This record gives sequence, structure tokens and C-alpha cells, in this order.
Amino acid sequence: MAPSSTEAAGGTFVVFTPSGKRGRFPVGTPVLQAARSLGVDIDSVCGGRGICGRCQVELSVGNFSKFQIDSQAGNLTEPARNELRYTEKRGLASGRRLSCSTKLLGDVVIDVPESSQVHRQIVRKRAEARAIEIKPIHKLHYVEVREPDMHDPSGDFRRLCESLREQWPNWGVADDVSCDLPVLVSLQKALRAGEWKVTVCLREGRRVVGVWPGFRQNIYGLAVDIGSTTMSAHLCELATGEVVASSGVMNPQIRFGEDLMSRVSYVMMNPGGEVELTRVVRESINYLAGQVADEAEITREDIIDLVFVGNPIMHHLMLGIDPTELGGAPFALTIDTAVNLRAEELGLSLHPNARVYGLPCIAGHVGADTAAVILSEAPHAQDAMTLIVDVGTNAEIVLGNRHRLLAASSPTGPAFEGAQISSGQRAAPGAIERVRIDPVTLEPRFRVIGCEQWSDEDGFHDEVWRTGVTGICGSGIIEVLAEMYLAGILKADGTIDGAAAARSSRIENDGRTFVYRLSPEVVITQNDVRAIQLAKAALYAGARLLMDKMGVETVERVILAGAFGSHIDVKYAMVLGLIPDCRLDKVWSVGNAAGTGARMALLNADARREIERVVRRVEKVETAVEPRFQEHFVEAMAIPHATAQYPNLSREVTLPERPSPEALMGGAKGEGRRRRRRT
Ligand code: FES
Repeated sequence: MAPSSTEAAGGTFVVFTPSGKRGRFPVGTPVLQAARSLGVDIDSVCGGRGICGRCQVELSVGNFSKFQIDSQAGNLTEPARNELRYTEKRGLASGRRLSCSTKLLGDVVIDVPESSQVHRQIVRKRAEARAIEIKPIHKLHYVEVREPDMHDPSGDFRRLCESLREQWPNWGVADDVSCDLPVLVSLQKALRAGEWKVTVCLREGRRVVGVWPGFRQNIYGLAVDIGSTTMSAHLCELATGEVVASSGVMNPQIRFGEDLMSRVSYVMMNPGGEVELTRVVRESINYLAGQVADEAEITREDIIDLVFVGNPIMHHLMLGIDPTELGGAPFALTIDTAVNLRAEELGLSLHPNARVYGLPCIAGHVGADTAAVILSEAPHAQDAMTLIVDVGTNAEIVLGNRHRLLAASSPTGPAFEGAQISSGQRAAPGAIERVRIDPVTLEPRFRVIGCEQWSDEDGFHDEVWRTGVTGICGSGIIEVLAEMYLAGILKADGTIDGAAAARSSRIENDGRTFVYRLSPEVVITQNDVRAIQLAKAALYAGARLLMDKMGVETVERVILAGAFGSHIDVKYAMVLGLIPDCRLDKVWSVGNAAGTGARMALLNADARREIERVVRRVEKVETAVEPRFQEHFVEAMAIPHATAQYPNLSREVTLPERPSPEALMGGAKGEGRRRRRRT
């Protein structure tokens, strides 16, 4: 083959895409070596031995006039023994080459697919969501270690470290690699069992946390979200970021108290009770780890890293810290920075050297779960003034942009989850989740979880006969109240209008008040409306308080996080006044953003540094001691609000006329006074 002009100019010329990095190399240089020396991001576990298949690249064939390269198959070596063996055993997709075993013969354009990059991105479905970039904290390195020699005595660990540095140049292996004691304890056996070939797991390039005989392809990490009601775990392969298994359980602490404060009371009433609460939550994590490991057909010992998030009380109990101080003012956290611990210290049965990282809590009421939501949604990286609400039994609220971030928690209570509602239930088959009401006839139609049809469509009764209609869940109660308001059944002050009884027999007299009969099984009572009013007023007041502190009258984006947020229709949330007015196309739900944030912290070393930095500058607002909170609360009792105009919402929905603020707030103040007397 005649050398190309560029070859004649001194070696072969290579352009890597998509990075565009390029350089000239002597004929015979392995493609992987050329790539690494240019800083092109290509993965490897086996160190170029043709075993792992992580280094795959694709030759771009054709004449690239831009680079003056005629890139042809003959400009690379034929598949070598390594590559043929890999192809035979594992299969190599057509067009793919192992860059470690392929050498340069002429000028080429080489494409590095996403799957071969160390710092690849996991694309998230929502367009505006940030992709999860992988910057591994733990990385596997296959090494061949020199055998001990009587004439040149040295310790096995010294020779292991030498091999790491020699065989993995340009991979950020530190000069002073250290290790955990269990590594030393098992090192000699591993080296000999692997006939001096082992796979090493390096943490942040400087600490050996695992050594396995022979070649090992994968290590795993677990992202755990400890909610006060449920706990969930996602098992991720640490190099690819792929979620290979997920599982969830009810938080077993529920038997010590349904909500957070009752669990703190349990600890206060039962000295030492925190030990039991800690034990059961750790047991559940071990159980979840076992579940996901089984599903992925690995063992718990294959899990080398764990990240957990939770509200401050869950966070402290996970660490074995008595949460009593979090039960009352000034709500002092024991620690407000991130925690880095050994899994063993927490009684977690994972790899013997597994680490645990807990995201930082923000304040006594705003936990590591909110920090994870911030990490996931990155309001601190935006110009737009963004309001994030994570609705649970407490609503965590974050407001801000790249210049300033504020956070608070507001006591919404469990009404949004269907508790305190006469026919309320958790979201489960049989629960009404969607409601529409004809504004003329006041006849409802609804959808039930587990059934595709609406209640007035053919096949509905055939579908729901198994479960029946069992109640109404959080999203259903928001929709029915908003629709009742839009249809004129519910007045702006939250009263079910008895006058509407003249228009439909579904409005029934219940003694002193009226109810709306949604179905034979489900009625909406005046108390139900009040419970939601109280919850939504607390949520709005918290958001409004942060807006005051920020000095803004409007927000540009609203993000609803959490399971509840992912099921509610944002339009109805705004009609009821759960959230401030905003363009509807700038309001969206993100589901379990805390879980996403936990995965980001698991997969990306920079994400940990980022959230630690951001949390330090979040300004905490304590709603309980803010005098304006009660004022905002009273105004927010009205539907959607006593004074706020909701111009954006009004463009999309025809809102009923509202009485004067004085008329509306008179009733709400009365409600506020009654509420204070009750408490
Ligand atoms: S680096 Fe492992 S197969 Fe090429």
C-alpha cells in the first residue's frame, strides 16, 4: 500500500470523533494508546488485553476532505488474536474494533461510540432535565503483578501498586496508592488464586478497596431513598450507570409512628428507642440490597458503594443518631455536611470495603432528599427564577436561580396523600385518580387506577368489577375539588354551595353542610375540602414566604417533585392554588427527583462536590417563626387565593368570579382561629 501524503509527512494522522481530537502517530501505534495520549475518552477495564470489550471504536470509512484523510479499512491492522478471541466469545458488532488490539497503518477517522466512553452521559427522558454524566468514583483496573523474588524482596502490595502505575499510565493512578485493611488481609490469596492476574477496584484513583482474582468486568452501587413511608433502592452498574434492578419496601419504622413527629415522640417516650428505629431501617436496606442483587444475579458483596438520601429525621436515624433535637426548635442538625462512612460501620452487609455516602442535610426541616432534588433539577445552574416543591406530609420548598437559593419546609400534613379525607386512600387499584364535572349538569366522569376507561365509557364496569371503586387518591381529590370549583359547586371560600343542590341531586344536604356525591361509594364532604384547603394554604404560604424573602412577585418555572407531583395535573394544582401563578408550560412534574439526585451522586464524583458546595450557600427559612407565614396562610385558604390574580392561569381556564378579599379572608380568619383553638 502506498503511503499517504500525511503518512509521508511523518506517521499516520488520526482524527477521533465526536471529540474532534487529532494527532499524528508512528505506524503501528495501538488506536487506544493514540486516543489516550490525546485525552480522548475511551474506557478500559482490562488495560488493553482484549478481554473487557470496553474500548470499542468504529472506523469511519470514506474520503474526509475536511481532514484530507482517505479513511479505509486497510489503514488499520487486521483483527489480532485477542480481537478474534473476543469476537468468538462475546461477539463484536459489525464495524466495531477493539481499539487496544487495533494498530494504525494509515490515516483514519475513528468514531468513539458513547458506550465506550468513561464519562458517558445517561440521557434522561425529559428534554429540560440534565443528563447524568458519569465520572466514576470507583474504577476497575485489571493488572498482571510481578511474582515475588527471593533476590528482590518486596511486599505484594508494593508490586501491585507498581503494576497499577506501569500498566495504567494516563489513568490518574496516584503515586501514593493506599488500601483498606481487608484488602491486605485477602491480597495474597487473591494474587495467587488469579496466578498474579487480578482486577483492582480503585477509589478516586488512590485507594484500593477491592481485589479479585483474574478479570472482573463489573462493580455495582446502590442509590437508596429513605422516605418516611416507603424506601426505594436502585442498583446501578458503576461504569455504565445502567440501573440493573430496583426495589422498594414500606419503611418499617411505620409501626413506631405513621408520621415523622410520632417517630420522634416514640424516641422521646422510649429512651433508647432510636436504636430500634435505626436497626429496622438498616435491616430494610440490607433486605433491599439482597432483593436487587438477586434480581441482577449478583451478590451483595458485589456492591461497593451506596448513596442514601432522606429527610433529616430519616437521615439521622440511618446514622444511628437520636433525632430528638429535630423534634423542636431550633431543630438542630447533628451534622449538616455530607457523610462518608464505611458500610460496615452502619451494619450494612455489602462488599467488606463498601463505602456509604450521605448527601448533606440543608436544615432541621429540609433534608438530604431536598439536596438530592436540587442536584437533580439544578436551579442553581439556571437564570430562571425556579420554584421546586416536593410534596409529601411535609412540603419541602426551594426557590432560586444561579444567584441565590432559599429553602423551607411547610407542614402540609398528609391530606394530599389521601389521609384525613373521608374516602381518601393511597394511590392503588380502585382509587379514583381523574375527575371531570360537566359545568351544566354537574354530572361527574372519572377514571380509576387500574382501568383505562373513563366511568362513562363502554367497558368501564367490566374493568373495575374486580377491585370496585375503593376511594379517592391524592391526585383525584385535587381534580375533583378543582372541577367542583370550576363548575360552581364549590365557592371561592371553600364552602360546598347548597344552592347548587337545585341544579343536581348529587349535592346532598349533610345536616349543617353539603356533600358532593362523586360515585355511589365516594362523597366529597365539607371536611374533605377543609383538609385540602389547610394543606394547600400551608404549601402556598411557604412558597410565598420564600418569594417575599427573594423579593420577587412571580416565578418563571415551577417543578413538582415526588410521587404526588408526578400524578397531579398541574393545571388543577394551580386552579386550587397549591402553587403560585406561572405559565402552565413552565410547570412540570419530575417524579422521584430525590432518587435521581442520589443516582447522580453515586455515579459522578463532581456531583458530590457540587451539591456539597451548593448546600452551603442555600439560605434556610424557618416558616414556624416567620410572622408573615400566618398572613400568607390565611390569604391562601381561598380558591385559588384571596388576593393573587393568577393571570397566566386565567388565560387557559375561565375562573369563576371571586368575592372581595375582605369577604373571603373573613371566613378564612375564622377558620384559622378555629384551627388554632383545635391545636
Ligand atoms: S481495553 Fe479491554 S478489550 Fe480493549
